Formats: sequence, C-alpha cells, structure tokens
Amino acid sequence: MTSDLLEQIRQSARIPRHVAIIMDGNGRWALQRGLPRHAGHREGMKAVRQALEGAVEVGVQVLTLFAFSTQNWQRPPQEISALMSLLEVYARKEKAELKRRGVRVRVLGDLDRLSPGTRRAVQGIMKATEGGKTLQLNLMISYSGRDEILWAARQLAVEVREGRKRPEEIDESTFQEYLFTRGLPDPDLLIRTSGELRISNFMLWQLAYTEIYVTPVLWPDFTREDFFAAIADFQRRQRRFGRVDAT
Ligand code: IPE
Ligand code: IPE
Ligand code: MG
Repeated sequence: MTSDLLEQIRQSARIPRHVAIIMDGNGRWALQRGLPRHAGHREGMKAVRQALEGAVEVGVQVLTLFAFSTQNWQRPPQEISALMSLLEVYARKEKAELKRRGVRVRVLGDLDRLSPGTRRAVQGIMKATEGGKTLQLNLMISYSGRDEILWAARQLAVEVREGRKRPEEIDESTFQEYLFTRGLPDPDLLIRTSGELRISNFMLWQLAYTEIYVTPVLWPDFTREDFFAAIADFQRRQRRFGRVDAT
C-alpha cells in the first residue's frame, strides 16, 4: 500500500533513529463496544503489527513498545493472565516472521516476575531473532523506569564497594551502560495513544530530550498511517537540547 505521507517522510533527512510508544487505551476501546478489557488487548496486537510495519517502512532503527508496567501487576488477575498469554502467543507465533524480516526482539523488564512458560517464550523469541539487522524491537514488560534507574544505581554501588569503580568516574555514559537500553540511542520520539498527557513511569532517564507526540486514537485503532502522522509531526519539530540555535 502506498502512502503519500510515507513518501513525504522519506524525502526528509530527519528520520528518527529510535521511536518509543506508550500503547494505551485498550480498555477504553473495549468498553466503548461493551466488550471485556481483554478483547481490547487482543485487538491491540493488530496495532503492534501496524506500528512495526510503519517503523520498518520509515527506516527507524529501534522501536520500543511499553506493553506492561510494573504497576500493571496490580490489575485484576484475569486481565494480567490475558495479557501474559497474548504476549506468549505473540512470541511463539511471530518468531519466524520477525526473524525473516530481520527484526531483533529484546524483551526488557523484570522478567523474573513472568511465569516460567511466558519467560521461556520470550527467551525463545530473543534467541531466535538475535541476528536481526533491520530493526531492533524492544518490548518493555514488567518494566518501571524508576526501578531501572534504581537497579543501575545499586549495581554501580557494588562496583564502587568492590573497588572496581571510583565515584567520580560515574558520568552519564557510564550510567547508561547499566540500563536495559545500554548501547542504544535515546528515543527521538515518544508516541502515547489515547490522549493521556503523562509518562507513567516509562524510560525516565532516556526521555530527557525526547519529542512527545500524543494522539487521541485508542491503541487498537492505531494504524501505520497514524505512525506516519507522528513521524511527519516530529520532522516539523525544532529540537534545541537547551541551546538557542536550531539543530
Ligand atoms: C494499555 O491499555 C495496555 C496496558 C496498559 C497493558 P489499557 O489497558 O491501559 O487501556 P485503558 O487505559 O484502560 O483504556
Ligand atoms: C502505561 O499505561 C503502561 C503501558 C502502556 C504498558 P497505563 O494505562 O498503565 O498508565 P496510567 O495508569 O494511565 O498512568
Ligand atoms: Mg491505560
């Protein structure tokens, strides 16, 4: 399918290297239709495919999707198990196709909290797609931005205690090596669906200078055209990083 917006995006030299998405609004999508919340999550899987396809077409190198937060463990058990089984099915079903397309999948978060079956499935997809060079897809599961920073701080404290690092050596680039996203560029663009104007504990370190795009579209309705609209909007932004001149 051709897209005028995609053509326009490709003509610009400013292609974001890393796009992060807070996939929100599945519950409201279901509620609007008188369906149970898990029906919204299931429908949301289609939007994952749309976003991934859009990212590959645009030439994004890293796509990070916030799929389940540490705080989401406080939801009703039936909803949690529906989300976990969707994740498992995705990992098993899409593995071969993602590998074929050169997508390297990383599942990042507190994986110890996943059930053994889910953990095996996510480890399977990470292993199978390890060599992917087209795009890296980060699925943030059981993830909390504050916990990620705390884990980094704790590991660094141990390094200092054991005499392997001096406190004055710890700068931004050292710190980044202890985050899940080590080695990756920070997101250039953050998309949040369903209109909420908040970060909800997502990538607190990495989003320092990220451009934010919020759309009222509920996640299950999100299409590659919506993805392109976000990219086109990003291309019109003037990023300053605290300086006065445009970059
Ligand atoms: C996003 O949709 C998916 C997850 C957070 C797991 P929600 O389930 O938060 O949907 P709303 O915000 O209730 O509509
Ligand atoms: C953020 O959405 C987490 C994910 C998209 C996985 P939430 O729906 O959990 O966030 P709040 O509760 O609206 O802040
Ligand atoms: Mg929500």
